[in-house]
Amino acid sequence: MFAVAIDGPAGAGKSTIARTAAAGLGFIYIDTGALYRTIGLACLNRNISFSYKENVISVLNQIKIELKFIDGEQRMFLDDADVSNEIRTENVSMSASVVSAIPEVRAFLLELQRGFAKTNDVIMDGRDIGTVVLPDADVKIFLTASPESRAKRRTIQLKEKGINGDYDTILADIIKRDNNDTNREIAPLKAADDAVTVDTTELTLEQSINAVISVIKEKMK
Ligand code: DC
Repeated sequence: MFAVAIDGPAGAGKSTIARTAAAGLGFIYIDTGALYRTIGLACLNRNISFSYKENVISVLNQIKIELKFIDGEQRMFLDDADVSNEIRTENVSMSASVVSAIPEVRAFLLELQRGFAKTNDVIMDGRDIGTVVLPDADVKIFLTASPESRAKRRTIQLKEKGINGDYDTILADIIKRDNNDTNREIAPLKAADDAVTVDTTELTLEQSINAVISVIKEKMK
């Protein structure tokens, strides 16, 4: 099996780049942020207070989370309902970031993530794939870009979906989420020592995809 770990901050283009690269290589693509988002959504649905991690931990025993592939696309199911679209709101983004700092939540998702890499060639993206989930991955990439360029891209993305996102709010959210993800005690966002950093600030999407594919192909030789 061949495993590619792609980590980096929110909005660096990880999912689009990883998905396209995986399709080109015939690998499956796993978006691990969707797992944290599904737990964040489950907590929001229950109106629990995030200030008490015990509340979040107790939700873990009450829910069924499944990651399925439908027509080659990853879909997330929460208690048998397809929540793949619902988990994409800014509200869920922030909840995901909060619940992901809880060690029990990370432990709950660890084997599920590793299981996919045992039986498939994968590109997995997240925050701690190269450092914690797949420390022996064949290729590790740290994909990053300036907060401003990420906020700009996110604003355009939302507009394309017909959602009117305010750039300043999106930038503030990105900076807040970077802070949460980088400064938490457990599995913080950071490049693995053996990761190749790809900075997409000055790159187009096509250039970013090519840069990632060439790093992978170099290691596959
Ligand atoms: O990649 P994303 O924006 O969908 O991730 C949502 C949140 O989940 C993000 O703020 C941090 C967390 N996350 C994580 O802690 N570890 C991962 N492997 C993936 C996501």
